[in-house]
Amino acid sequence: MDVAKEMFYRQDQISDRVKTGIEGLDVLIQGGFPKRSINLVSGPPGSGKSIFCFQFLYEGLKNNEKGLYLTLDKKVDGIIHQAKKIGFDFTSAIENKLVKFQYLNINKKMIYENMTNEILSEGYTRIILDSISPLAEMPIFIKNTDNIPDISIINSASDESSNSQLPVRRLHLRYIFDALETSETTSIVTSELPLGSTILSRDGISEFLADSVILLNFDPTMDRRKISVMKMRNTKHTLKPQEIEIGIGGLRIL
Ligand SMILES: Nc1ncnc2c1ncn2[C@@H]1O[C@H](COP(=O)(O)OP(=O)(O)O)[C@@H](O)[C@H]1O
Ligand SMILES: [Mg+2]
Repeated sequence: MDVAKEMFYRQDQISDRVKTGIEGLDVLIQGGFPKRSINLVSGPPGSGKSIFCFQFLYEGLKNNEKGLYLTLDKKVDGIIHQAKKIGFDFTSAIENKLVKFQYLNINKKMIYENMTNEILSEGYTRIILDSISPLAEMPIFIKNTDNIPDISIINSASDESSNSQLPVRRLHLRYIFDALETSETTSIVTSELPLGSTILSRDGISEFLADSVILLNFDPTMDRRKISVMKMRNTKHTLKPQEIEIGIGGLRIL
């Protein structure tokens, strides 16, 4: 990154920040994600969302921080292998129970309870939900309501006689965001965007619920990748898209 740009932002680094692990990003956001924030990382397929998440968890391992990676993809071993290929070998961290890759079965009625139980179980400081998009679109079934305050509203709204898709969807997302907020961890939620879209999340709601929004994008004709910080709570940041590169070691701002 250009030295003048780095110096300009470096002066303003503040405490209570969680390093992202993305080379060149932390200096642009005053030292990292705000502690205990929920961060939305959006982008089309292949834009680097999952790699961003690997990097974030791997960064935590440097301080022995416990990380959880929740996925709706059954092929968890494939994800771990994908991470290893790009330079993030989680094998020993998994053995030492510092990192857990957990598959959430979207066809199971208990998915929300399972997810919340995992999120709220002791000790995680970094949590990933990669991606939220299928969850935002599925019907909800909730039995155990202990941890979520407005669950009765969710249940009534999910009544089949109810016609209102949008409120139901919003409550779905609220449930997930509430659980992450209660956990007091610093988390990343990813959202799949259609290629070439100008929206910030697939569901159109997550960007309002999240504390920050990071957009990953690419321009196939120019063979260029970009990252943009669209919003971040309590943070002075540039809105200008920054050029990035993906390689061994993950994403790097040029
Ligand atoms: N070793 C590598 N070197 C350079 N680019 C890579 C490498 N491995 C993967 N990529 C790029 O990263 C993309 C996958 O990133 P990923 O984080 O899985 O995207 P997303 O989760 O947004 O779909 C691939 O499509 C490819 O363009
Ligand atoms: Mg992915």
